[in-house]
Amino acid sequence: MKDQKKELAAAIAGALENFEEDKVAQLIETPPDSAMGDYAFPCFKLAAVYHKAPQKIAEELAEKLRGNGAFADVKNVNAYVNFFMNRADVGGSVIGDVIAEGDDYGKSDVGGGRPVIVEFSSPNIAKPFHIGHIRSTVIGASLAKIYKALGYDVIRINHLGDYGTQFGKMIVAYRKWGNEEDVKREPIKTLLGYYVKFHEEAENDPSLDDEARATFTKLENGEKEEVEIWQWFREESLKEFSRVYDMLGIEFDSYAGESFYSDKMPRVEKMLEDKGLLQESEGAQIVDLSDYDMPPALIKKKDGSTLYITRDITAAIYRKETYDFYRNIYVVASQQNLHFKQLFKIIELMGYDWANQCIHVPFGMVSLEDGTMSTRKGKVVFLIDVLNKSVEKTREIIAEKNVPEELLDKTAHDVGIGAVIFQELSNNRIKDYTFSWDKVLNFDGETGPYVQYTHARCSSVLRKAGREADELLAGNITPDMSKLTGDVVYELIKAIGRFPDVVLEAGEKYEPSIITRHITDIAELFNKFYHDEHILVEDRDERLAKLAVTAATKQTIKNGLALLGIVAPDRM
Ligand code: ARG
Repeated sequence: MKDQKKELAAAIAGALENFEEDKVAQLIETPPDSAMGDYAFPCFKLAAVYHKAPQKIAEELAEKLRGNGAFADVKNVNAYVNFFMNRADVGGSVIGDVIAEGDDYGKSDVGGGRPVIVEFSSPNIAKPFHIGHIRSTVIGASLAKIYKALGYDVIRINHLGDYGTQFGKMIVAYRKWGNEEDVKREPIKTLLGYYVKFHEEAENDPSLDDEARATFTKLENGEKEEVEIWQWFREESLKEFSRVYDMLGIEFDSYAGESFYSDKMPRVEKMLEDKGLLQESEGAQIVDLSDYDMPPALIKKKDGSTLYITRDITAAIYRKETYDFYRNIYVVASQQNLHFKQLFKIIELMGYDWANQCIHVPFGMVSLEDGTMSTRKGKVVFLIDVLNKSVEKTREIIAEKNVPEELLDKTAHDVGIGAVIFQELSNNRIKDYTFSWDKVLNFDGETGPYVQYTHARCSSVLRKAGREADELLAGNITPDMSKLTGDVVYELIKAIGRFPDVVLEAGEKYEPSIITRHITDIAELFNKFYHDEHILVEDRDERLAKLAVTAATKQTIKNGLALLGIVAPDRM
């Protein structure tokens, strides 16, 4: 399909004088509806070159190209030349590609093995992994898969928030009001409780804040008792996070979080100083960014404790030295836009030309139907509860459908988890959105269950076809696509054919929702086709062509879902 556009550009450029193929390619459009042609070439921009009315140019160009055997038809409409491809040829080529490439359909090698870091999830220790964190987790996991499919060498990093003054607060609260059994039984909920209580108490007793600061300094200085408690909080929290990652099927290559950089910061402070970037301000060390219309970055507090951004500068340099990344991608909420602008600017000011290889991929907020969430007030929804509830609700829904008893648990899991992931990846990531159960689990809307169900429907058709379908998939039979050139099926075939470009675009824009939307379109087109036509018809050629389209639809949906981190069930 990709080459098709290139061939078209060459043909048009060949019929024109003084207009290069590249420029032609940029002008070629894809009409929204195949009834207007597969491609359209607008001639407005040519008017200045040829000193002629664009309509006239289009008319002459259409005349010249009409005889070209590559097109089924060439039409001139106003200033446009519309090209109609031979539908059977397009069908044969798309279906052939999908069947030959199978699970690899959509993959490419543009990355050439270059290293790309995708940092995502990065929750804070001893704080809940709440529904707000799911966005980073799910978007990042998908981007990692997309970059891998594009041939990059992907390194997935979880930059755990396992360091900082809040641990002073947590330790103080634990000592004053906590006990070991509670923490062991339900680590994060308990630790969160301490944190909330600390803030309540500190409102009336400001000395608590001083105590927390002193405790954190002890931790930074490596005092045994503080380090032990902190390590224990970290372990218990990680155990709980792992449960979520297991449920989502997500893995990381590195858990180097903030604490990992604690012994690497002095070197970086020295580098900042040597480059003349550090300034003293009220006893603290800062980097002045006023020339760039940004507030100063606080590198070190008066009491000597380091900050979030200090650890991030150190982490970026460490990553460059360790992985020699081609891209260093941070999937972090848009609330931190300023932080990343400051971070990248400081890296640039340090003289690193790789500053522009660091990319912040921001996303909007999730809120619940009854308002937003705040960790401080303890009003949070735990991700693990959301996932469990989704699986449970899905189980109820599918128990009434014809899922065999032994597949019920697995299907409920795959569909329940898939529904939550799909919803997360449905909107442009930058948009704020409200989490709603009705939307997540609607089997008829533009949802995960709907797309998964379409996949299962394709599987069921192929199962019914039996051996014939196996032969098709094995490539032993080449279907004759001239039997199948109707408008709906042709749109479906073209959408399947665009899939590799869609994966590329999703990667370039750091936007998994482009894939989500595309496979939803494919599912909708297939279902239209399925309702309009009987697939297992008497006529063998027609039946084989229809089965081939069904197999290609199933494969493309499966590959698309895989890039989102969602399983494609064969029955549901
Ligand atoms: N732990 C932080 C939070 O939950 C996110 C970390 C983002 N990554 C980074 N390199 N700063 O808000």
